[in-house]
Amino acid sequence: MPIKVLSPEVASKIAAGEVIERPSSVVKELLENSIDAGATEITVEAQNGGVSFLRVTDNGCGLSAVEAEIAIRRHATSKITKLDDLEHISTLGFRGEALPSIAAVADVEILSKDPDSNAATYLHLENGKVTAREKKSRPRGTTITVHHLFRSFPARLKFLKSPSTEAGHLATFVGQYSLAFPEVKFQTIIDGRVNLRTSGNGDLRLAIAEIYGLEIAQKMLVVASGEAMIKIEGLCSPPSVQRSSRSYLSFFVNRRYVRNSLLSKAVEAAYGGLLMTGRHPVVILNISIPPEEVDVNVHPTKLEVKFRSNNAVFTAVQKALNNALVKAPLPAVTISPDNDARAASLWERSPVAAAGLPVLRTLGQLSASYILAEGPEGLYLIDQHAAHERVLFEKIMAQRAEKKPELQGMLEPLAIELTPEQDQVFRRSADLLHEFGFDMEPFGERTWLLRAVPAMLNNTNLKETVKELLDMLGNEQDSQKREHKVAQSLACHGAIRAGEALDTEDMRRLITQLERTSQPGTCPHGRPTMIHLSSQQLKKEFGRSG
Ligand SMILES: Nc1ncnc2c1ncn2[C@@H]1O[C@H](COP(=O)(O)OP(=O)(O)OP(=O)(O)O)[C@@H](O)[C@H]1O
Ligand SMILES: [Mg+2]
Repeated sequence: MPIKVLSPEVASKIAAGEVIERPSSVVKELLENSIDAGATEITVEAQNGGVSFLRVTDNGCGLSAVEAEIAIRRHATSKITKLDDLEHISTLGFRGEALPSIAAVADVEILSKDPDSNAATYLHLENGKVTAREKKSRPRGTTITVHHLFRSFPARLKFLKSPSTEAGHLATFVGQYSLAFPEVKFQTIIDGRVNLRTSGNGDLRLAIAEIYGLEIAQKMLVVASGEAMIKIEGLCSPPSVQRSSRSYLSFFVNRRYVRNSLLSKAVEAAYGGLLMTGRHPVVILNISIPPEEVDVNVHPTKLEVKFRSNNAVFTAVQKALNNALVKAPLPAVTISPDNDARAASLWERSPVAAAGLPVLRTLGQLSASYILAEGPEGLYLIDQHAAHERVLFEKIMAQRAEKKPELQGMLEPLAIELTPEQDQVFRRSADLLHEFGFDMEPFGERTWLLRAVPAMLNNTNLKETVKELLDMLGNEQDSQKREHKVAQSLACHGAIRAGEALDTEDMRRLITQLERTSQPGTCPHGRPTMIHLSSQQLKKEFGRSG
């Protein structure tokens, strides 16, 4: 279709608002344009978080000289023409807003060649106006370079996060699109370093391996359901893979990357009791639905969509995942203490949470998870994991105050491959992690060699621990909270697990250590470490008077 400026009638129906909020919005728009242009290779380069320099290069259909001049005008698009087209959009773009919106907040260079022109067209725009026109040479495709984003908009610049955080955001977008379009070869280069490189061979599992690593990719289960109206396809993790953040859920609607709480809820419903609370799976789904069943024109950044029938989509996603999960290997048997309502009424929360802990005598271990102890005030049931977490947490914080992390060197350094986003988070958090006892050095594109770890991480799965720490740090900006969360996470990973058998000596030592902490009644997350059944309650429960 030729590029034309939309009639005011159609233009007025486009969801209005701020299109470019940060460097990653520019990347998203340019990526979508390249994909709509049929590109099979797309390279994204960024410097300084994408603020000083951003470039997207594709080998798509390109623009002629005339088309390039039109493309930069507001509401100029080749993707729709009439009102009715808004009802069934099959391209990622449709508003004719992206290029002019970018040109309004940055200097832009466009270099593009379509198959019918002999030379490529070069345009330089400042403040949205063309300041230079040239003929240049390049193969078919388009390169758009964006300089000095928001230079004339200090208020917006102030709103941006650190360059590495912004780089992380834009790396996420490229990663997501590489999952939506595994047949396209993507490359991200951040500050001169390759952050992501996909093969573009069309294999989703391979694309996942590029982003999340081979280990997860191999375990993923195939999701494929061919309902008449709604087709759900993709991969989902078995219950053995559990993540501490929701950021491993990727949803595409007709291959458009979207954020949608309905879809997240459908995933939660499907995984039901399969995951521990607060844990999330890795899920990559494309929902193919007739374009008229979904409204993509509801938000200026197009990250949100509205389904005509939420119910139908919810059910389809849940069912597709259920079918896939049935094929998952059975999880290992774990001991799960059941806290039904009757037990809760008997075991009341103890007032020790606030006060100190009395001297306790160890009686034994229950379900390999709880320590039974007797004190002057009755019976105590101590959650061994939560109690140990409290002990370790205070130890870590004390070591930190003295700037003396207790670390242990690895006999053999461990290579850890990070996702593009984790890699950015790591670069930004390396100092903090070093202060806690981690020693990591670069080893290839997104691979790091772990040379030392905090001493308490003795027997843990170090790769998982590091990755989880980075996921968590990626979601936290406040420096004090970041510190606190690292300590919490280290304590959690280093602590004795539920299900671990302890001998009397272990239990006695743990209780003594817990007694010495400042807040023995709660774990670092604020959950109780123990419940207390007073002598009084015991008497009452057994129907004894007085
Ligand atoms: N990389 C590209 N290769 C070929 N043509 C492009 C490219 N980028 C933009 N165009 C052309 O320029 C037009 C305007 O692009 P722009 O991104 O501003 O609007 P759009 O993609 O139509 O809609 P939206 O604002 O929703 O992205 C497109 O319709 C397309 O025809
Ligand atoms: Mg566009």
